[in-house]
This record gives sequence, structure tokens and C-alpha cells, in this order.
Amino acid sequence: MSKKKIVNIAVFASGFGSNFEAIVRAVREGKIKNSRIALLITDIKDAYVRQRARRLGVKEVFISPASYPSKEKYERALYTILKREKINLIVLAGFMRVVSPYLISKFKNRIINIHPSLLPAFSGKEAIARAYKYGVKVTGVTVHIVDERVDRGPIIVQEALSIDPGWSLKRLEKEIHKVEHRLFPQVINYFVSGGVKVKGRKVKIV
Ligand code: GAR
Repeated sequence: MSKKKIVNIAVFASGFGSNFEAIVRAVREGKIKNSRIALLITDIKDAYVRQRARRLGVKEVFISPASYPSKEKYERALYTILKREKINLIVLAGFMRVVSPYLISKFKNRIINIHPSLLPAFSGKEAIARAYKYGVKVTGVTVHIVDERVDRGPIIVQEALSIDPGWSLKRLEKEIHKVEHRLFPQVINYFVSGGVKVKGRKVKIV
């Protein structure tokens, strides 16, 4: 019986890290197959996600963008680490920096991001609050391939969520995160199982 190659995943995150934890747990519960969360990379020194990584026993690296003269120099430093750790897939889970063409070219179609709206609506920061304040009746979650355009890469999966008129913003955030914690591991599993085929803007799940 041939043994499948293990996919080494690096998660990039900047904040609370609830998606990071959901992904780590999904790997450990076998919901994401043939994979290992090799590394957490963060750009924020006191991000809570670092505490989660330590608690979960995941190697974590903080690299300060302020220590580098340019975005590309910063990403070259990241790339050195990613290469050393033999990373095959980068997962952006609340990473609040724009990835530059340098890293995108090194990991073409191998960087995925989760966004808390139905893109292209409400791209950018604070998407949940902006959708809520706008008064949309339906919002949701998007998982997409990261390309050179912010929040515009080919969409892998979207899940819609109807907003109950009685919900507070807090409640909507909670419901969005619930979807994210289920959907993101699922998509990562498709990805590492070779089930995601990208052709231009069209992404097929096979
Ligand atoms: C998530 O809702 C994710 O979709 C969002 O940041 C949150 C991180 O939460 N990402 C973006 O807005 C990217 N533009 P977490 O730190 O608890 O995983």
C-alpha cells in the first residue's frame, strides 16, 4: 500500500485565532487528512493566537513587519522559514496584511484565505459589521485562492447565511464564526486531497 505524502500547512493569523484553533483540531480529529499544521506565523507580537498555538503545541513564529525595510524583504524572510519547514500550503486565517506578488508567485494557487462575507461584497476589514450596518438580509463566508488583488482571487466555496431581523451584531459575528469553523477545515481537506482544480477564475471541487 502506498503511503500518501503529508501536506505541511502554515497558518498565518493576526488576532484571536479561533479559525486557527478550529483547523488544528480538525487535523487532529482526522477531518483534514494527510496533513500537519507545521507552523503558525503571526505579524502581531501580542496576538492571542500565539497563546493558542503554545497551548496546542504548534510551533509559532512572530515576525515583525516593522523590522524590514519593505514588504518584499519581509516576505523574503517569511519565505526562508516556509522553505525550511517544507510548507506546501499557506492558510490565511484572519491575517490582516495584504500578501504581495512575491509570496504569491512562490505559492501560486497554494495560498487560501477565509473572508467573512459573500465576496465581492464587503471586501476588506470589518466585513461583518459593515454588512450588518448596511442592512443586508443575507451575508456569509467565502474561501478563496489568494492572488494579487485583495479579496478578489478565485472563489473555492461560499456559504450564505440569512440574518434574522432580531440579531445583534454580536450574534451575527457568532453565527458567521460558526460557519467559518466548519467550512474552512472542509475546504482545506478538499485542497490537501487534491480535490480543488483552478482554471482561471473557475474553481472546481472534484
Ligand atoms: C475571521 O472572521 C476571518 O474571516 C476574518 O478575520 C476573522 C479572524 O477571526 N478575516 C478577514 O476579515 C480577512 N479579510 P479569528 O482570529 O478568530 O480566526
